[in-house]
Amino acid sequence: SRRITVRDIAAAKRRGEKWPMLTAYDAMTAGVFDEAGIPVLLVGDSMGNCHLGYESTVPVTMDEITMLSAAVVRGTKRTLVVADLPFGSYQEGPAQALRNATRLVKEAGVGAVKLEGGERSAHQVELLVSAGIPVMAHIGLTPQSVNAFGGYPVQGRGEEAAQQLLRDAKAVQHAGAFAVVLEAVPAALAAEVTRALHIPTVGIGAGPGCDAQVLVWTDMAGLTGGRVPRFVKKYLQLRDLLGGAAQEFAEEVVGGAFPAEEHSFH
Ligand code: KIV
Ligand code: NA
Repeated sequence: SRRITVRDIAAAKRRGEKWPMLTAYDAMTAGVFDEAGIPVLLVGDSMGNCHLGYESTVPVTMDEITMLSAAVVRGTKRTLVVADLPFGSYQEGPAQALRNATRLVKEAGVGAVKLEGGERSAHQVELLVSAGIPVMAHIGLTPQSVNAFGGYPVQGRGEEAAQQLLRDAKAVQHAGAFAVVLEAVPAALAAEVTRALHIPTVGIGAGPGCDAQVLVWTDMAGLTGGRVPRFVKKYLQLRDLLGGAAQEFAEEVVGGAFPAEEHSFH
């Protein structure tokens, strides 16, 4: 069976079907989500925080995203794999964006790329789409701008900010984006943006009115340590489960219970 494509995503919006997206950073986890029927996986630059041990997404490089995207593509059969363009890989302009997006398509085999920004990134979106690379946009809270935002505040509050978000959404749709992530936006505004667009909105902290929902997989599975944003729902307590397994293994090694007879060769 073939992979899901951006045409299937467009058809889902026409039919009014909601769909889920998760992040993935390695082949094995991606394979689990593929078999679970998740149609779209994002190799997000959230790998900076969740996989590589950085304090934000800002340090993530093209080499890192390319390597992990290739792993996610190898680990999946059905899912559409979308790779983030990391900070500094598209801000110089459309030519730089095309060079780096092309690398993700050719070297990693992804089916689409994602970049942050509405009006400010419309020229990049337009060139990539004209070159045959599907683009998912990302507006509202754009974590690569953490230093400008001074943290991760909710976006689109107040009439002026709401109008700017609507303009950003329409700009990326006009530029040819096949979908747009809305991050940390009031639910009523996200619903309004969703009604105003013919491309799907993918919400994260943007309420139930979006066409799709995305979560960072380590948040969704309860593997992320420390505080997680209030929009996260933990469907599993993986940090506790995995920690418990590691402790049990350690105790059995120290106590001599592992390996047992059935784990030994004779
Ligand atoms: O990098 C990421 O995980 C993302 C999603 C949260 C949308 O951009
Ligand atoms: Na991201």
